[in-house]
Amino acid sequence: MRIGVLTGGGDCPGLNAVIRAIVINGKREGWDILGFNDGWAGVLNNKWEELNEEKVEGIHREGGTILHTSRTNPFKEENGVEKIKDTLNKNKIDCLIAIGGDDTLGVANRLYKEEGIKTIGVPKTIDNDLSATDYTFGFDTAVNIAVEAMDRLHTTAKSHHRVIVVEIMGRHTGWIALEAGVGGGAHIILIPEVPFDIDKVCETLKKRYEEGKTYSIVAVAEGAKAAKGSKFLTREVVKEEKTDAFGNIILGGIARVLEKEIEKRTGFETRSVTLGHIQRGGRPSAFDRFLATRFGVKAVQMVKEGKYGETAALRGTKIVSVPLEEAVGKRKEVPPELYEETVTPFLGK
Ligand code: F6P
Repeated sequence: MRIGVLTGGGDCPGLNAVIRAIVINGKREGWDILGFNDGWAGVLNNKWEELNEEKVEGIHREGGTILHTSRTNPFKEENGVEKIKDTLNKNKIDCLIAIGGDDTLGVANRLYKEEGIKTIGVPKTIDNDLSATDYTFGFDTAVNIAVEAMDRLHTTAKSHHRVIVVEIMGRHTGWIALEAGVGGGAHIILIPEVPFDIDKVCETLKKRYEEGKTYSIVAVAEGAKAAKGSKFLTREVVKEEKTDAFGNIILGGIARVLEKEIEKRTGFETRSVTLGHIQRGGRPSAFDRFLATRFGVKAVQMVKEGKYGETAALRGTKIVSVPLEEAVGKRKEVPPELYEETVTPFLGK
């Protein structure tokens, strides 16, 4: 068999561990494995490299993706689908494993459903917001990076009696901000699923001050916004008005906006930090290496079993396969009750 592999969308720690697991296990089956470069762009442009055990040796320890990635959407390219079919035919590819988030898996699903192309998915995103799987790899690493950053910010904020607002990735959902905020002891945690009230934020900060706690850490997900009816920040703060090929807005800057507003309203000296892509870079955590490896092993099994049009997923402690159709287009949001349990009682504490 000849198998194609690609990584699409934003990179994330653990991608290389999936590639390694696919190559080691696929080679054991005697397969040829072609790694397409730069996500779907590699398939459109017939750009690939042959993968073997030597190429993947030890890569599970490294962040990023040896195949590189892009946010290319073949359905937005002229004759995109024809070009993909051409590349797959030319290289006699039997099945294409797409490792990616909602956008990448959405393309894999459409190619399978509309064109009969044999695709298999592996879910990834640091945001952990794919509905099909309990966890995606990359998330744990991102959370730990954000926790470490917050640990450091506590000491400097305390020394200066400052408020520090930390902006954490999470375009549509607040999973990283929630887990990192709780783990990193943030005094206020703001996520997209629970629109906030700036008056309450400032009240909490003032109350802390009155109690003798003269510093505070505010963790905010980049996609957080104020509650309806608020005159302040009724939509996400966008870094740029342009969108990517999948129509995603590019966020960034909410921490700076909050920094100014909090200082204005409370009089407390305030600073902001945007963690940004630091959360996506570097070595994956042990949890992510293990999960990513299990996904890679599962993808090979799925090829053997002919489970095309499906994606690997973690359900509880088991790795299962589910139809791509069920996995894409639905977001896994932080349930309000989880926020209630883990954030509300600790607000300002
Ligand atoms: O979807 C993952 C993610 O890291 C989001 O949290 C973030 O908004 C976005 O990607 C950033 O994308 P880019 O790498 O294109 O700036």
